Amino acid sequence: MVGARPDAEAPSWAERFLAVRELTEALAAPLSAEDQTVQSMPDASPTKWHRAHTTWFFDEFVLQPHHAGYRTYDPAYRYLFNSYYEAVGPRHPRASRGVVSRPGVEEVGRFRSHVDDALVDLLAADPAPEVLALVELGCHHEQQHQELLLMDIKHALAHNRLDPVYRTARAAARPAPELRWVAQPGGAVCIGHDGSGFAYDNEGPVHRQWLEPFELASRAVTNAEVEAFIDDGGYRRSELWLSDGWATVQAEGWDAPLYWQAEPDGWSVFTLGGRTPVDPHQPACHLSYYEADAIARWSGARLPTEAEWESVAVRQAPVGNVLDVDLLHPLAAPADGPDVAQLYGDVWEWTASAYLPYPGFQPAAGAVGEYNGKFMVNQHVLRGGACVTPPGHIRATYRNFFPLGLQRCPPRKERDPMTTIDQPRVEVLLQAQDWRDARAAEVRSGLAASPPQLSPVWFYDERGSILFDQITRLPEYYQTRAERRLLQQHMDDLALLGIETLVELGSGTSDKTVEIIAALTRSGSLRTYVPFDVSEATLRGAIDKLGAQFPELAFHGIVGDFHQHLGQIPAKGRTLVAFLGGTIGNLRPHERARFLEDLGSAMAPDDLLLIGIDLLKDPAQIVAAYDDAEGVTAAFNRNSLVVLDRELGADFEPSDFDHVARWNAEERWIEMRLRARRPVHATIASLDVAVDLDEGDDLLTEISAKFAPEDFAGELSAHGFAADVTWVSPGDEFGLVLARRV
Ligand code: SAH
Ligand code: AVI
Repeated sequence: MVGARPDAEAPSWAERFLAVRELTEALAAPLSAEDQTVQSMPDASPTKWHRAHTTWFFDEFVLQPHHAGYRTYDPAYRYLFNSYYEAVGPRHPRASRGVVSRPGVEEVGRFRSHVDDALVDLLAADPAPEVLALVELGCHHEQQHQELLLMDIKHALAHNRLDPVYRTARAAARPAPELRWVAQPGGAVCIGHDGSGFAYDNEGPVHRQWLEPFELASRAVTNAEVEAFIDDGGYRRSELWLSDGWATVQAEGWDAPLYWQAEPDGWSVFTLGGRTPVDPHQPACHLSYYEADAIARWSGARLPTEAEWESVAVRQAPVGNVLDVDLLHPLAAPADGPDVAQLYGDVWEWTASAYLPYPGFQPAAGAVGEYNGKFMVNQHVLRGGACVTPPGHIRATYRNFFPLGLQRCPPRKERDPMTTIDQPRVEVLLQAQDWRDARAAEVRSGLAASPPQLSPVWFYDERGSILFDQITRLPEYYQTRAERRLLQQHMDDLALLGIETLVELGSGTSDKTVEIIAALTRSGSLRTYVPFDVSEATLRGAIDKLGAQFPELAFHGIVGDFHQHLGQIPAKGRTLVAFLGGTIGNLRPHERARFLEDLGSAMAPDDLLLIGIDLLKDPAQIVAAYDDAEGVTAAFNRNSLVVLDRELGADFEPSDFDHVARWNAEERWIEMRLRARRPVHATIASLDVAVDLDEGDDLLTEISAKFAPEDFAGELSAHGFAADVTWVSPGDEFGLVLARRV
């Protein structure tokens, strides 16, 4: 550490020391003894612990070695309040600091006074410069804990459904100025601390770096910009995320920044002043590195490196919305600020730089050398301080650091027991025998037709569902992308319709459904999601995934056949039935008619129907979508024979067949066929059926009808539905029809 003596005009060491110590106590003062002991996650510490640990630091590193007459308050505190100093010895585990009920809050207060008195005593004796350097380090250390204390108590209070207030918010609102890009020349720059005044060891040595010209945003990212990211499906688009980030988004079900909550009329956010509506002008805060990186990528930019940041910040005085402004919350950028505003204060800025030693870095001598250097792995650097950073604790060279995904451990609201307890998560309507009988009858009649045909249900065993999922990502298969876009754009239109139940037929992986659920949970009305599919494994997988993402939603999965079981779908309140992907096109016209009749009978008059339809277009584009270059659709097609062999004891050899995709202009559908490469004699043992095909004969495995929107609307109205609106994707590729049961 680099220390300096205060000059003659500056406050004395004792005054500086006591001011820091008093500020810690003032920050803890609004908290009850109970508040001071709560620990909301392994990485956060109770307030009482912060107060004791900062005191232990002076006891351990200053008083015991350098104050001859000092007697430690309690030798056991070395074990309880050492944070991570291996050289000092074993310590109480970090993750369970919340169980340290004794010493109590008052006892910790007495420990603090004991150390304060001794330190003032030591300072009065004009200690050596190296002792003063340790006192100075202790003060900066305590300032870091002042910020930590506030952030940890915020996290703890946010877990309480009653949204307790740490301190009444001081109102401060103003519009954020338009974002501009401010050109920076780059070139050779000096980075790091030059040794004048205090700095942590990790800020030096000063060294040169070469920067290419770049542009820096004129202010921090606002909440409005984050909302636009969310509305654009930002948390659901893997292409915007680093691989580890995307895994974290999915594993932890992120769909908004930490502390945001969807309300009927927008987002709210938990603050130290309690819960308030999200102010679109304020800088977004509590973003993880992954979120910051994704938002930057989404906006066509990138995070700055720490050298780029420092090269601009070094030209400004380190002032801004920090702790003494006393808002305890970020404030919109000023209209009359510097060309690059908010470098200091408001929110820490993530940089693209990994936290690494500067060339020539030397950790401080002794145990305090563990302060920074040993953390130089797996973390990134943040710069500039925040609204809770104590004044005097921020400078251009200051390097904060943090793990990339550890934004959070979101305060999880508990599920409403009324909606989840006793509710079967998955109900199986397909009784094995019924299902076999129905399928057997269908296979018999299908194979007797000309050309012989199979039902598309044979595609969808577990492997088939995986292959279909791969199809949806193929460059040729435009449908899924187009439909996802339409859902992203239009599902908020349903927000005010008071939809309580979402039923989805042929839900598969429910991948795109996230767009609907997110919109309907934002509006606050959605209670239950009822995915319905023949493929049990896929259905269960989807529920597990969505359950983590939407912990407040009740799930009622149904393993069923939409040709048989539509009358058995549970629904409470206004219901939206979704049938996505263009799967309606896989039904033959007579099946479609019956399906719509059954559905109409199952739905209440006010319920809504959302159907995805693939639209008529250039047949070449359609054929390509069903005959992709990688051969995934061919594998999907042949998989139906693998399933028949396994389920019905048939002996088809899938490699005896070519995959064929054929546009049937008269029927306006694409046909998937399996064409015999050689004469085939197969048997289906359980049905006692023989299948004889000549070379070149086809089995018709699927039709996929394409529609003109007006024809489809006519078909709906013939079956008791009124199409309210048809959203059409660019290039008229795909349509999404919202209809009402009339
Ligand atoms: N809706 C998803 C999946 C479409 S794939 C999407 O848009 O991507 C078609 C889905 O319908 C598969 O998951 C399949 O298992 C299911 N399915 C096919 N026939 C079915 C039937 N008769 N009853 C219920 N589900 C069926
Ligand atoms: C599920 N269904 C809408 C798909 C379709 O496009 O008809 C199934 C499919 N068949 C081949 N590729 C995809």
